[in-house]
Amino acid sequence: MDKPIERREFLAGAAATVAVAACAPSVSGGGGSTKPQALGRGIADVFTGMPTTDGAGVSLTRVIGQPRLRNLDPFLMLDRFHSDDPNAYIAGFPDHPHRGFETVTIMLDGRMRHRDHKGNSGLILGGGSQWMTAGRGIVHSEMPEQEGGLMSGFQLWINLPAREKMRAPEYQDLQPDALTDLSFGRGINARLIAGTVDNERGPVRDRVTHPLLMTLKLPANAHVEIPVDRDNRAFAFVYQGDVQIDGRSQSLRSNELGVFEDKGSTIALRGGEHGAALVLAAATPLREPIVQYGPFVMNTEEEIRQAYIDYRNGSLAKM
Ligand code: CO
Repeated sequence: MDKPIERREFLAGAAATVAVAACAPSVSGGGGSTKPQALGRGIADVFTGMPTTDGAGVSLTRVIGQPRLRNLDPFLMLDRFHSDDPNAYIAGFPDHPHRGFETVTIMLDGRMRHRDHKGNSGLILGGGSQWMTAGRGIVHSEMPEQEGGLMSGFQLWINLPAREKMRAPEYQDLQPDALTDLSFGRGINARLIAGTVDNERGPVRDRVTHPLLMTLKLPANAHVEIPVDRDNRAFAFVYQGDVQIDGRSQSLRSNELGVFEDKGSTIALRGGEHGAALVLAAATPLREPIVQYGPFVMNTEEEIRQAYIDYRNGSLAKM
């Protein structure tokens, strides 16, 4: 049986309005702007991850995709890996299939080698990323290309709608210099993988879920507003320090995932006492049935059975 959802109660309302009036001007308005701020989205729920292992024995923390948070439509899984003990990662993820969704690797530290049945190979480096659209099928491996040192990063799965689940697979190797670095001034830095912020676009485009995906570093007390599509579901995962939700009596600590309210077109954040580093993501919910068996995510049981048949008889990797 699932445990009750871990949830912290938050304050909103009158106190938040007072706090907004006292806020520094939005950084997007430029230094010295007195532009009044809109109240950004508040946080609806907070989750912490669950330790697990995957692949050939890689230790990780599952944040989305655990019993308390099966999915966050259209996000299916968020895994955090972070260890300087080779035993926790060295076995890697040998050949395995996927069908029906997209996988994104965000590498903070370390080196991981991707290989797939289409003949693609790429080294995912700290500060870089990889965006793989499994579509009708891909068989790939992700193996550490280091024998020691820190391996740190994330894997995020984003669902595809029924009409795209059997599309052709696609692989985008995103070296650090292929990502879009944004500087908001005052030591605030963001690295954009997908989406648009202040007319700057991330390299991953034309996805049906209109994703925004970035890493963001905020010094202590630095404030930033990130625009998000009104219809998009959004979350932040803090991996260092802590962050305040500006204008509200809400905050997220290290290793907490905050799910934002579904309405509102900005997310306003302020670095905590020691600053913060986080992953911020938003994408359009698909509102379709989700049937997931391990590496296959389809709309019906029948489609899952077919995926297993195609994988076992080898045709998944021939498509
Ligand atoms: Co995989």
